[in-house]
Amino acid sequence: MPTIECAVWFSGPMALTENRLALLDGTELERLHAYRREPDRQRFLTGRVLTKTVLAGRLERAPEKIQLDSGCPECGRPHGAPRLLEEGAPVFSISHSGDRVALAITDGTPVGVDVEQVAATVQDGMHRHVLNAAEQLVMDQLPANEQVSAFFTYWTRKEALVKACRRGIALPMPQLTVTGPGESARLLSSESPDLDPARTGMRDLEPGEHYRASVAALTGESLRVTTHWFTE
Ligand SMILES: CC(C)(COP(=O)(O)OP(=O)(O)OC[C@H]1O[C@@H](n2cnc3c(N)ncnc32)[C@H](O)[C@@H]1OP(=O)(O)O)[C@@H](O)C(=O)NCCC(=O)NCCS
Repeated sequence: MPTIECAVWFSGPMALTENRLALLDGTELERLHAYRREPDRQRFLTGRVLTKTVLAGRLERAPEKIQLDSGCPECGRPHGAPRLLEEGAPVFSISHSGDRVALAITDGTPVGVDVEQVAATVQDGMHRHVLNAAEQLVMDQLPANEQVSAFFTYWTRKEALVKACRRGIALPMPQLTVTGPGESARLLSSESPDLDPARTGMRDLEPGEHYRASVAALTGESLRVTTHWFTE
């Protein structure tokens, strides 16, 4: 059976320097400057620098020659999942949270990645937004001190899935059932035609203490995930 290769890159946030900003096009600079907080600007910049540098390495091209399209399919504004508008181009997904920026990239298989900084508590309403009744039951049976960590495992697994099919929050996460904490990541069932458990591969990642991350690829082939830490 053929193997689908997926590389995941993690980076810490990058400071805004002239060389890095030079990799962004006008639309990307506008988005960067629209962020009010410096950490948000850094995370956005890092996602673009990481993506363009890794793509440049694969395509044997200078990073400044990598032009991404981030047009949202709903409204056309440049806040959608970025892609390279070239035939046969690699496919990738970006995520950022706290001090982590993640990029997952394949040779063409749809892919989604999610990284989250584990908070001390889960915000009101988030359980309902992420979990379905069966998963909530599993959560309720866990000791109280394991529930927050378990919630972030469910959340990152499901967000990787909704990003892999590019629906994002338009696909209600309770429509998906995934394995729980303590089990390897897997999509068990889906009420959405966008995701088929038989054609979905997943892995949990190791983004470091106080973070959770998962990657999902839309393939029925076997999936090999390699993880790398980015240094310029
Ligand atoms: C994708 C989404 C689930 C990410 O949520 P998040 O946890 O806040 O953020 P993450 O850091 O994990 O991911 C953000 C990245 O996901 C990517 N992304 C945006 N929309 C995406 C989508 N529909 N599918 C997959 N990836 C998407 C982008 O690369 C974005 O980072 P960037 O803006 O720096 O390029 C959420 O933002 C979403 O669903 N957005 C789309 C909303 C929408 O459909 N709007 C339509 C109304 S116009």
